[in-house]
Amino acid sequence: MGVMLKTKAKSLLGMFFAFLVLSPVLTRSVTPSLNDDVLGLIVFKADIRDPNQKLVSWNEDDDSPCNWFGVKCNPRSNRVTELTLDGLSLSGRIGRGLLQLKLLRKLSLSSNNLTGNISPNLAKLENLRIIDLSSNSLSGSIPDDFFKQCGSLREISLAKNMFSGKIPSSLSLCSTLATINLSSNRFSGPLPSGIWGLNALRSLDLSDNLLDGEIPKGVESLNNLRLINLSKNRFSGFVPDGIGSCLLLRTIDFSENSFSGNLPETMRKLTLCTLMNMRKNSFSGEVPNWIGEMKSLDTLDLSGNKFSGGVPVSIGNLQLLKVLNFSANELTGSLPESMTNCASLVALDFSQNLIKGDLPQWIFDSSLKKVSLSEKKVLARMNGPFASSMGNSFEKLQVLDLSHNQFSGEIASSILVLSSLQQLNLSRNTLVGSIPVTVGELKALNVLDLSENWLNGSIPVEISGAYSLKELRLEGNFLAGKIPTSIENCSSLTTLVLSKNNLTGPIPAAVAKLTNLQNVDLSFNGLAGSLPKQLANLVHLVSFNISHNHLQGELPAGVFFNTISPSSVSGNPSLCGSAANKSCPAVLPKPIVLNPNSSSDSTPGAVPPTLGHKRIILSISALIAIGAAAVIVVGVIAITVLNLRVRSSSSRSAAALTLSAGDDYSQSPTTDANSGKLVMFSGDPDFSTGAHALLNKDCELGRGGFGAVYRTALRDGRSVAIKKLTVSSLVKSQEEFEREVKKLGKVRHPNLVALDGYYWTQSLQLLIYEFVSGGSLYKHLHEKSSGNHLSWNERFNVILGTAKSLAHLHQSNIIHYNIKSSNVLIDDSGEPKVGDYGLARLLPMLDRYVLSSKIQSALGYMAPEFACRTVKITEKCDVYGFGVLVLEIVTGKRPVEYMEDDVVVLCDMVRGALEEGRVEECVDARLQGKFPVEEAIPVMKLGLICTSQVPSNRPDMGEVVNILELIRCPSEGQEELG
Ligand SMILES: *[C@@H]1O[C@H](CO)[C@@H](O)[C@H](O)[C@H]1NC(C)=O
Ligand SMILES: *[C@@H]1O[C@H](CO)[C@@H](O)[C@H](O)[C@H]1NC(C)=O
Ligand SMILES: *[C@@H]1O[C@H](CO)[C@@H](O)[C@H](O)[C@H]1NC(C)=O
Repeated sequence: MGVMLKTKAKSLLGMFFAFLVLSPVLTRSVTPSLNDDVLGLIVFKADIRDPNQKLVSWNEDDDSPCNWFGVKCNPRSNRVTELTLDGLSLSGRIGRGLLQLKLLRKLSLSSNNLTGNISPNLAKLENLRIIDLSSNSLSGSIPDDFFKQCGSLREISLAKNMFSGKIPSSLSLCSTLATINLSSNRFSGPLPSGIWGLNALRSLDLSDNLLDGEIPKGVESLNNLRLINLSKNRFSGFVPDGIGSCLLLRTIDFSENSFSGNLPETMRKLTLCTLMNMRKNSFSGEVPNWIGEMKSLDTLDLSGNKFSGGVPVSIGNLQLLKVLNFSANELTGSLPESMTNCASLVALDFSQNLIKGDLPQWIFDSSLKKVSLSEKKVLARMNGPFASSMGNSFEKLQVLDLSHNQFSGEIASSILVLSSLQQLNLSRNTLVGSIPVTVGELKALNVLDLSENWLNGSIPVEISGAYSLKELRLEGNFLAGKIPTSIENCSSLTTLVLSKNNLTGPIPAAVAKLTNLQNVDLSFNGLAGSLPKQLANLVHLVSFNISHNHLQGELPAGVFFNTISPSSVSGNPSLCGSAANKSCPAVLPKPIVLNPNSSSDSTPGAVPPTLGHKRIILSISALIAIGAAAVIVVGVIAITVLNLRVRSSSSRSAAALTLSAGDDYSQSPTTDANSGKLVMFSGDPDFSTGAHALLNKDCELGRGGFGAVYRTALRDGRSVAIKKLTVSSLVKSQEEFEREVKKLGKVRHPNLVALDGYYWTQSLQLLIYEFVSGGSLYKHLHEKSSGNHLSWNERFNVILGTAKSLAHLHQSNIIHYNIKSSNVLIDDSGEPKVGDYGLARLLPMLDRYVLSSKIQSALGYMAPEFACRTVKITEKCDVYGFGVLVLEIVTGKRPVEYMEDDVVVLCDMVRGALEEGRVEECVDARLQGKFPVEEAIPVMKLGLICTSQVPSNRPDMGEVVNILELIRCPSEGQEELG
């Protein structure tokens, strides 16, 4: 029977709606023991998702639901009277199953994730007293007759959902309603007037909706009302006189509406009222003197209105008052002495008024925790000597805002022993003297704002004691001296503003330890020296303004400083880096002399081939001389190499270098570059016998994302190109660097610029490349001065050679990362040689940001996946760059061309032309009539395929080579025929 029942129950569930129509008669006749409540709840359960399995105890085989989770029954009838399923993360809709629970008195489903409309029949459950559906995602409007049969409803809360539309007028029929909470929805329109007839109502919360209109007269019949909250709506008009008849009112919150007029005098009778919040309306007139009769008030907020006149003396009668906020009105006069009697005050805010006079002494004798007397309008201000007012019973004070007044005199050290103080704002006064060292006692202080005063002296070292500081603002004073390194103890600092002072000395590396820093402003001081490299560790920085100081040297590395706005670093003549719009001397060609062996002093045999015959580590006394930056600026660099001496082969400090230049530069050697290691992969004997080579600005061949390249000649006359890496702060450890470079050195191919060797020191890395004479493809394509333009055959050759070189790199598991026409060199015989390959491997990680900023000059070549963090970057990014290169070679146009008011992206243009059947027109005008169409069009198509958005749609470079060879064949055949 049990099994049968179960089966039946299940099949019934499947047809529930039919069942509902026929119930309850049918239910009872078919399955007499299956009770309505079990079925109703099981159907309810079937409609919702229960991620935390809270409803597993709900089993349809049970005869009674009374032991189920969240269910309560009447012990006599065994019928469900309460269903409480709050905060269970239930989602889905509230189905019709609940309508079966005929004897339900309380339904509470708050704080779940329920969605959809509310069932129009819910309120018809005539026994329901409490409905709480608050804090879900229910939506839609509520039918106007929803409450038509609301029987014995006492409490309804639909708060914190997304209900919209009007509040149903049938609500006025629920004569037993005591609590209505419709707050935080999107109800709109005027209130149904009948609502004011609900004289059982005790609590009405309609806050945070879009309700408008005026409050109708008739409020007076709500004589049970204890709480009314209409805040954050669009109500307007006057507050009706009737409100004074709601004698039990304890909470009145009309804040953030558009009420106007004065407060009705009837309110003086509301002597039980503890909270009155009229904040942000348009109330005007004087603050009535009868306010002092509302003796129970503990919170009075009239801020953000247009109250004028003086502060009524009767305020002093409010002895329970804790929070008084009259800020942002037009109050005048001074603070009444009677306020001394407000013995319970904890927070006082009279800021932004026109109040003047001295800071009253009573403030300091009270138990206040929060005082705000700041003044943002200009007419009149608090003034007086600041320090003398300080009393001793001020220990509870947490917030003190006296900003923008006319306080003068020194800050007494006594103010800074307020151990509870969390926020102290004395900004915009005329305080003088120095910051008391007792500032270090303020262990709880979060915010210290002393800006825009006349403070002098230095920032006390004791500031480290205020270790809870999050914001330190001292700008616009006359502070001098250094930024104390002790500031590193204020490790919670997020905001540090010291601008417009007279601070000197360096920015201490200690600042870099404040890893929570977001906003730093040190501008307009006399700070000097170079920026600590460690600043790169400040990963949360949003702004960092060091403009108008005497700082020098390079900006720190890293994402933030690479993209810092120029205005944040301007006004430091010796600061350099891209943001400072001035290249760093370190990037300028340092005269580099490669002279492993002095011609006079050396014995050739003294150079030991230490590590195998392919490589020589040169043990030499001088290799590299770095000239003074000043001379480089003048543009004249003469290098003489002196004192080159080969050390004895037994010296194991093999790589020690003495830096030395001509007499003119005897002061120039920098200490950090005075030892290093030179490795030539080929062990070229001519190189090791010594020669002097000269590098100067004239020898600069170009620069790219990773550094500048110079030409120099070896002793035997052979030229090499030397690339000085500018990413030195990013490169890996020496060991990793060497491993990667050696790997790159092993890749040899006729179409690759050979890497011949390298030089390593911690701060300087050089890569020594084969020198290719013919200039870059970019020059040949885009610079008019380059003379003869490339013929079709030459272009095809370049395409094919480049493809082969990339295919070879990929075979060796090396991604180029930086393919572009300026990295393709053309040698005397017209063969392309691809350079700059694989340098991204020298970076500590394949940081896309660094890659894309270092390769930013390669605009237009960068594969779309660089922008997409979730896509792995593979060698297919080279295929993309190659595709762009192909189109560039064939069309003679740059990958991205900036027209007057247009930006033309090459591959889009060619793709468009292809679709319109006029791709031929895209071929370089200089080739018109002189190219085989049957090669050019397939080559362009190949270029387009290579630039597919999806990496996997792009061919391998190996396939590309094959395709190109296929394309070429017929044409060559023709040529032979012709
Ligand atoms: C509620 O649903 C939303 C959207 O489905 C989900 O993001 C959220 O985590 C859910 N909250 C709870 C408490 O289950
Ligand atoms: C109305 O409901 C919201 C959400 O549950 C709650 O925060 C608020 O305090 C309630 N209002 C009253 C007057 O109880
Ligand atoms: C700033 O300091 C320098 C050197 O100590 C001093 O000469 C100068 O007058 C100071 N400027 C101001 C505005 O205090």
